[in-house]
Amino acid sequence: MQPLFSHSSGAGPLAVFVHGFPMDHRLWDQVVAHLGGLKRCLAVDLPGFGASSMDGADSIDETADRLAAVIASLDEPADIVGLSMGGYVQLALVERHPELIRSLVLMDTRPESDSDEGRAGRYALIDRVGESGVEPVADSMAEALPAADAAPWVRRKIRQMARDSSPAAVQAALRAMAERPDRTGILGSIAVPTLVVVGSEDALTPPEGARRMADAIPGSRFVEIDGAGHVPPLERPSGVVGALRDFWTVSA
Ligand code: MLT
Repeated sequence: MQPLFSHSSGAGPLAVFVHGFPMDHRLWDQVVAHLGGLKRCLAVDLPGFGASSMDGADSIDETADRLAAVIASLDEPADIVGLSMGGYVQLALVERHPELIRSLVLMDTRPESDSDEGRAGRYALIDRVGESGVEPVADSMAEALPAADAAPWVRRKIRQMARDSSPAAVQAALRAMAERPDRTGILGSIAVPTLVVVGSEDALTPPEGARRMADAIPGSRFVEIDGAGHVPPLERPSGVVGALRDFWTVSA
């Protein structure tokens, strides 16, 4: 198994950042730039994205195992921050490698598996990527993820990260997300400090669902980032930095 590629900055206790679909470590650029005095920040590229190989891209569980190998090699449990697909990977990690987790930040994500309709939509998109490459995904994600009034550069950055992904990686991630199990049942067993974060304008994983997830996790905290859609680290990085600092201060 190839190690996942990761981008390291700062010094202190280990914090690992896990991006969403179809993005890479650059999702976190403006967040980790402000946390280096507090944490050793490791922003990973999930299999097939950024500089990581496709190896182990077949399921969310395999991805979690590859992430676990990164954390285990550093000999300390991590504060783990994940957005959306990154959150699916975090919940798999909770189930498979809980000893590697010091705290969790679940951002704009959900524990439920896909509905039949959602799954069918993913397979239709897989076919579309096979026919036309990543361009249609890049355009639709850049349109759908941020809030309606997001700055143009936010959409440009999403489009750029998606365009830099290979069609095979995008297809594998879509398949992995379509086939992921429902993990609602493990929320009550999460025993580490947990923060649930959601953009107030998130249309994909709306605040009501995030609040339900927080309610199911014992002792968790909940923060809504005002004005952000599905990608607060790009849309409201200072709000995310503030939420992480506050959470890590009380949970340390
Ligand atoms: C993401 O941001 O990672 C995706 O929206 C997740 C998904 O499609 O379920």
